[in-house]
Amino acid sequence: MPRLNINGRDLTVDVDPETPILWALRDTLGLTGTKFGCGAGLCGACTVHLDGQAVRSCITPVSAAQGRRITTVEQVTASEDRVGTAVHEAWVRHDVAQCGYCQSGQIMTATAFLKSLPAGQQPTAAEIDAAMAGNLCRCGTYARIRAAVADAARALA
Ligand code: FES
Ligand code: FES
Repeated sequence: MPRLNINGRDLTVDVDPETPILWALRDTLGLTGTKFGCGAGLCGACTVHLDGQAVRSCITPVSAAQGRRITTVEQVTASEDRVGTAVHEAWVRHDVAQCGYCQSGQIMTATAFLKSLPAGQQPTAAEIDAAMAGNLCRCGTYARIRAAVADAARALA
């Protein structure tokens, strides 16, 4: 059975190694913060971090995560994650979510993006749009997402 490190815990997960990480998280471990949207790598709703990089868990098998760190939205929005907490708080301040379905994936991509920047760097609107371009929102919350990412970057500076 695959051994995975999820949110800082080493776990043995009773799934086939080719199972997408999304289903190991949701169905086997009960971590339902990670959402299923398209199942084909197209929408970003299922975004998690693998060694800090944003990846699509619906098309990434468990076998690709062995010996690496999986981080989910449950951990990123926990208080010990400074950047994730800043993003989460900015999301609340800007009332970003509408239906909410895409939002955990948006937060995961935004957090990976801000962590990738040199300390204190303020991203431009164009840089934010480019970083977030792979995460679709059928409710069209893009303007609030852009404002919240910029606000989180300011809060972290
Ligand atoms: S559910 Fe994974 S990219 Fe859409
Ligand atoms: S808030 Fe509804 S899909 Fe993004």
